[in-house]
Amino acid sequence: MTRDGGGERLGRLGPATTREQARRALADAFEAAGLPCAGLDARVLTCAALGIDHADLVREPDRAVGPAGEALRELARRRLRREPVSRIVGVREFWGLRLEIDRHVLDPRPDTETLVEAVLARAVARGAETLRILDLGTGSGAILCGLLRGLPEAFGVGVDASAGACATARRNLIATGLSGRAAILCGNWSDALCGRFDIIVSNPPYIPSSEIGSLDEEVFAHDPLLALDGGEDGLDAYRAIAPRLASCLAADGLVALEIGATQSASVSAIIGSAGFSPPETVRDLAGRDRVVLAEREDAARPQPASRTEKVGRSAARRVATEGAMRQRLALSASSGF
Ligand SMILES: C[S@@+](CC[C@H](N)C(=O)[O-])C[C@H]1O[C@@H](n2cnc3c(N)ncnc32)[C@H](O)[C@@H]1O
Repeated sequence: MTRDGGGERLGRLGPATTREQARRALADAFEAAGLPCAGLDARVLTCAALGIDHADLVREPDRAVGPAGEALRELARRRLRREPVSRIVGVREFWGLRLEIDRHVLDPRPDTETLVEAVLARAVARGAETLRILDLGTGSGAILCGLLRGLPEAFGVGVDASAGACATARRNLIATGLSGRAAILCGNWSDALCGRFDIIVSNPPYIPSSEIGSLDEEVFAHDPLLALDGGEDGLDAYRAIAPRLASCLAADGLVALEIGATQSASVSAIIGSAGFSPPETVRDLAGRDRVVLAEREDAARPQPASRTEKVGRSAARRVATEGAMRQRLALSASSGF
């Protein structure tokens, strides 16, 4: 790493610098600063500052950056101060969706796609049609958007204690074309709800308070504390959510909770003591425990739907506007729906 952490290499960047020279100057600066994905970061930031996409960059590499050079230099400086690229450009790709992120929300992690994948596999296997999904601690709405995208007949409610996060989640539902099948509520876990859901998911804050200060700077300095802090042992949110599940979950409902890599036994015990069958743990792509899945112990497996039920369900789908869903889930009028 160079003495100034790579910043001196940005000095070459002026209005007459070509796009390709600018991209290379950023890549050199990031590499000199020891950033692991220097080339990719340089490309993404160059495109963001110039308002172009990768194809434009490849098509016209010799075009001068012009006045946007100053903006590009500023984005590069932020990256050199270890601000994540997703935060700088305000966008994160999750489950094939382009989601807005801001200071109110956790930057959705690829690990969380493990939860989306596991739930979709089980939901599709059940063959149910009009599933109702509840996402507790929805943040940017990443999990909810991913599930609604994979289950075109489903409806969802996302809850978050942060009003800023709720606003971001709503914008993401609109931008992804999913807002007609979803609602976002601001509140404490499921307190504002009295409906039943077929699937309850959550990626709650699960970092033990004492470990937050030693997290990677890119996490610690930019993700909101409310999204990270799981209390003394990291399990506070699971203890808060578990006793609420029984009153919100349909008889054959499924619960999926993201966990930290060492929390499978503790979270399974918490969920088990709330009346759930012995939970199953799913690993992420790196082989770490990542998701605890559980069903209610009293769950009777559903019989295949009769023709009358099927007709009823598709009629329900036809009239399912946001207002109809609100009624169906009996959402509290004061919940900020
Ligand atoms: C780890 S983040 C997960 C965000 C998003 N679901 C994701 O996977 O990217 C946890 C979320 O829980 C929210 N949260 C924390 N305490 C809460 C509470 N008591 N009630 C509702 N949401 C809460 C935070 O604001 C944060 O958005």
